[in-house]
Amino acid sequence: MPAAESAAWRALRSHWRAQKNVSLRRLFAEDARRFQNFSVEAEGFLLDFSKTALASDSLRLLFRLASAARLAAHRRAMFAGGTVNKSEKRAALHTALRAEESAEFFCGGENIMPAVAAERRKMLAFAEKCRSEKKHSDVLHIGIGGSDLGPKTAAAALQPLREGDSPRIRFISNMDGAHLAKALQNANPRNALIIVSSKTFTTAETMANARDAMRWMQNAVGKKRAREQCIAITAAPSRAREFGAGAVFRSWEWVGGRYCLWGAAGLPVALAIGKHKFNEMLAGARAMDMHFLSAPVRKNLPAMLALIGVWHRNVCGYPTRAVIPYEERLRLLPQYLQQLDMESNGKNARQDGAAARIATAPVVWGAAGTDAQHAFFQMLHQGSDIVPCEFIVAARDGGGDDIASLAPGRRRLVVANCLAQSSALMLGKAGGDGCRRFPGNRPSVTLMTDEFNPRAFGALLALYEHRAFCEGTLWGVNPFDQWGVELGKTTASEIADALCGDVSADGDSSTRGLAGYYRLRRK
Ligand code: F6P
Repeated sequence: MPAAESAAWRALRSHWRAQKNVSLRRLFAEDARRFQNFSVEAEGFLLDFSKTALASDSLRLLFRLASAARLAAHRRAMFAGGTVNKSEKRAALHTALRAEESAEFFCGGENIMPAVAAERRKMLAFAEKCRSEKKHSDVLHIGIGGSDLGPKTAAAALQPLREGDSPRIRFISNMDGAHLAKALQNANPRNALIIVSSKTFTTAETMANARDAMRWMQNAVGKKRAREQCIAITAAPSRAREFGAGAVFRSWEWVGGRYCLWGAAGLPVALAIGKHKFNEMLAGARAMDMHFLSAPVRKNLPAMLALIGVWHRNVCGYPTRAVIPYEERLRLLPQYLQQLDMESNGKNARQDGAAARIATAPVVWGAAGTDAQHAFFQMLHQGSDIVPCEFIVAARDGGGDDIASLAPGRRRLVVANCLAQSSALMLGKAGGDGCRRFPGNRPSVTLMTDEFNPRAFGALLALYEHRAFCEGTLWGVNPFDQWGVELGKTTASEIADALCGDVSADGDSSTRGLAGYYRLRRK
């Protein structure tokens, strides 16, 4: 039975009717140990959810909801290679990509670890060779969506911590030629490396950028050398060879695009930080996998984050969630999570094909603190909508880029700002006239860790992947497909053809009108 039809779901709704006017101040006043009682610590992370309207009864009901959704059984099925992605009849085994070589992961009755380990060794050896020979001053990484966001977020977060030299890595994703043109400026085609990362090797943006980048390179060094300087990462190796890639690293059907960072698609990250630190990132993710697989729900970080997500989305009815990392190196994290959460769970049909009939993924948005404080925090504090916030912060800088000597003493101020925001959102400020009044009672959770080294970063991303899986399970949707992007893709290619001539007569009059206006302006 879908969790949304369970007694726990109904009980949560009536519980909210009594709970919704609760004051967060009062919850703290009534429970001296609220912080201890409403926080979980595991794998180097502290998750504080005491600044939410959750009470002990709410938690009990959420745990009942997790049982009704058979969360533990679904979790086991995913790790065991079950067909958890039903619409595409696939397993979801991204956890194998970061497992120890000696582990066993089965897909269709076959242990996939020997192939995974061989590909990992091959990719890391290639990255190490490039780094030590310093053959490539520039790496042009071409991909989009999951084939771009994970590696780009990881490279931005970890490159400042690199050991030794690493090439300059530019990520190119947009169909707008300005993205490629900017990346090719000041790049040298004689020693650049092109990486085309695409699971399907058919994605329009990636293929357009790959073709143009290859032409740029071929014009300078000829076809043969351009082939040697082009690497593909894909689950469609024959398409990649046909395209002209000299070497191909494999991905697999059982790894979704937005979960691919941990395998060969992590090549730009390995080039940026080296094999040793890449392996540390995998180790962090692996530790989070083991925690997720074994910890009971009430002590399980991904499961707890997911239950809090469902609480805010479905019980309290908040339509968005803001993610604010107080860490410059995690600047891209909100964008990465936007794809992870919204592409995974932004669905109105359940796994079994029936209408979901409940709210699923919220709008996920955000930006790095403290910048965000000077952009949208006005609305968070005094706006008409309540936005549950997720604050992420580390106690230490984590090194890199000479922070200690060039910008000493900043971490304390960063942490102070982070804690100040969650406290002010919750407590508010009475008195003063209308525009100086802060209503408070605005919920947030805070995730704190020691420092964002590669291990913690790997654990953080795995935590969020598993949270998306748990939320999908609680909503009854399939977090591993993305049929919703298909219609736009096919319509774009039809309209692109039509823009050359007359837009097809069966198009709507608005699109026909816009196409006509475009054609006039092109003359
Ligand atoms: O946006 C849809 C999507 O299919 C994503 O899920 C995927 O990460 C992206 O396009 C790119 O796909 P590919 O890796 O096949 O180029």
